[in-house]
Amino acid sequence: MEKEYTLSIIKPDAVERNLVGKILNFITEAGFKIVGLKMMMVNKYKVEEFYAEHKGKSFFNDLVEYMRSGPIVAVLLEKENAVEDFRKLIGDTDPAKAEDGTIRKMFGISVQKNSIHGSDSRQSALRESEFFFASYERFFF
Ligand code: RTP
Ligand code: MG
Repeated sequence: MEKEYTLSIIKPDAVERNLVGKILNFITEAGFKIVGLKMMMVNKYKVEEFYAEHKGKSFFNDLVEYMRSGPIVAVLLEKENAVEDFRKLIGDTDPAKAEDGTIRKMFGISVQKNSIHGSDSRQSALRESEFFFASYERFFF
């Protein structure tokens, strides 16, 4: 099968609890290769653009405040079937509903503070990787 790419974000709640190393290890043990990595804080406008599909929803303003409340880590990942496999690895949006062994089940605190993001399609993955990484920061070999 051909290589595929997906974009993940380790969210502020997980960075704050010093879980970056643990979560990255879990991801690479599951067969994903890190081909881009960056720690940063994003402003209101960046978050609003990233989550534009949710504009107008009841949780949108809280989501924006949460995502800019502390540093995040953006991670570009490579694997066969990366998008679908990574969504399985992170689990349901609500950690309480996520299956055992998923990242959100293990580390998530609430629907909002669910520790990690994963692209929901190949199209989103491309948009999101270009959103966070310049071409010279994306290592597609
Ligand atoms: P993500 O985009 O972060 O990977 O999460 P997702 O696809 O599983 O869920 P999505 O529907 O795209 O929601 C994006 C993020 O918004 C927050 N949220 N809060 N309070 C709520 O009801 C609610 N619903 C969603 C979560 O942080 C979710 O990951
Ligand atoms: Mg989503």
